[in-house]
Amino acid sequence: MAVRKLAPEDIQPDSFTFSSENMTFVAQQIAKYPQGRQASAVIPLLWRAQEQAGGWLPRKAIEKVAELLDMPQIRVMEVATFYTMFNLEPVGKYFIQLCGTTPCALRGAGDIRQVLERRVGEQNHVTEDGIFSWLEVECLGACCNAPMVQINDDYYEDLTTENFEKLLDDLAAGRPVKKGSQVGRRSSEPQGGPQTLTDPALFDGSQIGAWRKRFEEEATSAAAVQEAAAATTSAPSTPKPGKPEAGRVVETEKADTPAKRVKEGEAPVPPTERREASDKSKATAVDARTENKAEPAPHSDKSYVATPSKPEAGRPTADAPADKNNKS
Ligand code: FES
Repeated sequence: MAVRKLAPEDIQPDSFTFSSENMTFVAQQIAKYPQGRQASAVIPLLWRAQEQAGGWLPRKAIEKVAELLDMPQIRVMEVATFYTMFNLEPVGKYFIQLCGTTPCALRGAGDIRQVLERRVGEQNHVTEDGIFSWLEVECLGACCNAPMVQINDDYYEDLTTENFEKLLDDLAAGRPVKKGSQVGRRSSEPQGGPQTLTDPALFDGSQIGAWRKRFEEEATSAAAVQEAAAATTSAPSTPKPGKPEAGRVVETEKADTPAKRVKEGEAPVPPTERREASDKSKATAVDARTENKAEPAPHSDKSYVATPSKPEAGRPTADAPADKNNKS
């Protein structure tokens, strides 16, 4: 975006005063806001000043708006230089804003730009006859009809180099011109008229029964296909046996018990050997280092040592028999 600054001093007018008609407008705008909030009317007042000054805002017009709204001049200057809707330099009788954003660029805005550069000159330059000036701007919201330009307050869309050259010729000659689409389409409807939903039967109700019948036929044939597929699919001749653990509790012997060892054919230990085994005087000395490395005996997580009852648990114990008569 170009630097936005006020026009050179040599083209600035010496004064600016709103016309009586525009002063009425100014009073109406200020009256819309509570006392002390009249600064809210700054944009409509600047816009009306621009219209009266011929399409741009001289320094004196900005100062006049500040005076009428009791605002510091710099605050009004900030608004005028921020919004691109305000022109800070003179423009032509026909001020052309060319949209250069992507949709318009893809549809030929570059060609329109070349026409402007050839016929009008650089941006922000007014032709010698004062008829034209132009500026490239961002999307103007008519992308469906790209490429397009805004000339003063009106849009001209669906431009080609040919119809745009003719448009400039007609404006320069003072001939009437057609606003909007230059190829004859209305709003943003498809070029050449409607392209879809053109069958009148869609709207007279005659198609509804036909569609329902077709849905029913399709549903019936689909069901028949499924039935035939099910009939041809035979069950397996040798069903797979169910897994033992499939939903049943299976008993397995996992503990290494004397009864299990006898069952497996191992001879039971004779009582004499059992007694000798428990005699510590006949026990074989085992190195403590190797004893610790011995295979741990099978054990259960359950503890078979009875947990003594707590006297305070409300039950009598061997150490503290309950004394029903002693309530102290
Ligand atoms: S991109 Fe040109 S009008 Fe939106």
